[in-house]
Amino acid sequence: MAEVIVVGSRSAAGALVAEAIERLVQQRPDAVLGLATGDTPLPVYRALAERVRAGLDLSRVRGFALDEYVGLPVTHPESYHAVIARQVTGPLGLEPAAVHVPDGRPLGIETAGERYEDAILAAGGVDLQLLGIGTDGHIGFNEPGSSFASLTRVKTLTRQTREDNARFFDDVEQVPVHSITQGLGTILRARRLVLLAFGRGKARAVAAAVEGPLTASVPASAIQLHPRATVVVDEEAAAEL
Ligand code: GLP
Repeated sequence: MAEVIVVGSRSAAGALVAEAIERLVQQRPDAVLGLATGDTPLPVYRALAERVRAGLDLSRVRGFALDEYVGLPVTHPESYHAVIARQVTGPLGLEPAAVHVPDGRPLGIETAGERYEDAILAAGGVDLQLLGIGTDGHIGFNEPGSSFASLTRVKTLTRQTREDNARFFDDVEQVPVHSITQGLGTILRARRLVLLAFGRGKARAVAAAVEGPLTASVPASAIQLHPRATVVVDEEAAAEL
């Protein structure tokens, strides 16, 4: 059963999780962070950037992003390579090379998952994995039907996910159809999971993930299998718990 913390605001959630990350980095200066994209983790990155300005040293920290679109050039502003640079490595002053993002280039895509898994293992595994949740219950881009044992691989995005992410593009047709994502098995290997969710639109997915049955139809329910999973939600996202 995941620990659930209900907070009053997104910034309170950001402050709480940034504090946990600071404690981790104090114990382990070369900690490995699992990084999520999307709107949800932004308050964490903002709060962490404040701590860096206040003296927190992240220079030895390494990171692994959860996922990437397939076929979107890394120079595209909505590629997760670009998003991680803009929202994480830049503001936190990390070396761009310290943070890995799955390789979504079509050439060599069939081996990209294995290469990513190898890189995570070589780094010693992920200490703390940040997660958002899709309205269909996905984590990373593990759409409904994903195996709990899955590793990094190509996944087809659901129409719902593409519509949810259309806000980052001109229209839904511009949203790539495929992604490369850490699997649920990859995510479960992280030593700690922190799933964040805000807003009424996430309430159903959060309740299904935290209190529903373990099922591939709700990929985020996999977090129930993890011995150290924390869910940080605002009142709205907690509405159906
Ligand atoms: C996206 C990402 C996920 C993210 C989720 C929620 O498609 N691949 O990693 O957690 O969907 O996004 P948001 O935080 O913008 O609501």
